[in-house]
Amino acid sequence: MNQFAKPRVFKLLVFSLFLCLVLVGCSDSASSSKKSLENEKIKLVDNEEKLYVGFILDTLRDERWYGDKEAFENEIINLGGNVKTLAANGHTEVQIKQAELLIAEGVDVLVVVPSDGEAAAPIVELAHEAGIKIISYDRLIRNAAVDYYISFDNTKVGELQAKEILKHAPKGNYVYVGGAESDNNAVLLRNGTMNILQPHVDSEDINIIFDQYTDNWDPAIAEQNMKEVLSANSGQVDAIIAANDGTAGGAIRALEEAQLAGEIPVSGQDAEKEALDRVKAGTQTMTVEKPMVVIATHAAEMAMKLANGEDIQTDITVENGQEDIPTILLEPRILTKDDIK
Ligand code: GAL
Repeated sequence: MNQFAKPRVFKLLVFSLFLCLVLVGCSDSASSSKKSLENEKIKLVDNEEKLYVGFILDTLRDERWYGDKEAFENEIINLGGNVKTLAANGHTEVQIKQAELLIAEGVDVLVVVPSDGEAAAPIVELAHEAGIKIISYDRLIRNAAVDYYISFDNTKVGELQAKEILKHAPKGNYVYVGGAESDNNAVLLRNGTMNILQPHVDSEDINIIFDQYTDNWDPAIAEQNMKEVLSANSGQVDAIIAANDGTAGGAIRALEEAQLAGEIPVSGQDAEKEALDRVKAGTQTMTVEKPMVVIATHAAEMAMKLANGEDIQTDITVENGQEDIPTILLEPRILTKDDIK
């Protein structure tokens, strides 16, 4: 060991002292530059003057969400804003990352269709920590301080589905093909349907032989479930209440395989093109129209107002397990063969 070599402990001490000084120096400058960065919000958009809106979708798998995306983006641009839409393919952790990204890009407001109503709550905290407001679009984010909620009356959609199917099958074995239980809408739809069916169950006119939610609203799962119900009940099914056109399509593919398509009334929702063709062909009995342009333009106006620091008047609130959320609920409309020319 050279004579100059200081005892190891002494060297270590000097080194760590030196290190601390450097680190404190860095963090100070880092935190001060971070502070100035935070204060001067940088928007990663072509024109920073414009209000910047972030739109986070659950998925683009179902036809309707393309309609929402297009109508929403068009309206934001019409109102002089910038907009970026991201879709998470059904994954909440991706939605949270997308929220972090859009907040880092300097959005002034977030509009979110949660993949999972409960698990999306952290997105609300992220938004509020960044000082921006958040609108829950079509689906309610639960147990979080959401600023506004806009949707169609989903309980009414479930009621419309049950009422129309009862006209075609007042008695018999009923199958309920629900939506994704992680989606608050699916719970509201089922509540609406059961409000109408329960008296008929109590009078034993109808018997619900299958009643299940469908993971991720997946048409393939709906088809598989329907195949199992048909084989377990030797095809003795008199009516199918499917929560949306996607799951209805899956159930009807199972009926087609069993040569029962068109024999058993089936409900739907979303007025997708394929569903309208099925209604005209008679293999699906009805669907529910929820004009995407109506909800999307409403939500775009709300988003631009919030981004501008304005408040929004609503007539009602909806309780989401934590708060009473100011809400706009829009009217759905039933579509049967007679309505589709
Ligand atoms: C629901 C929505 C329905 C349906 C479904 C599947 O939340 O209200 O219109 O499309 O998601 O994506």
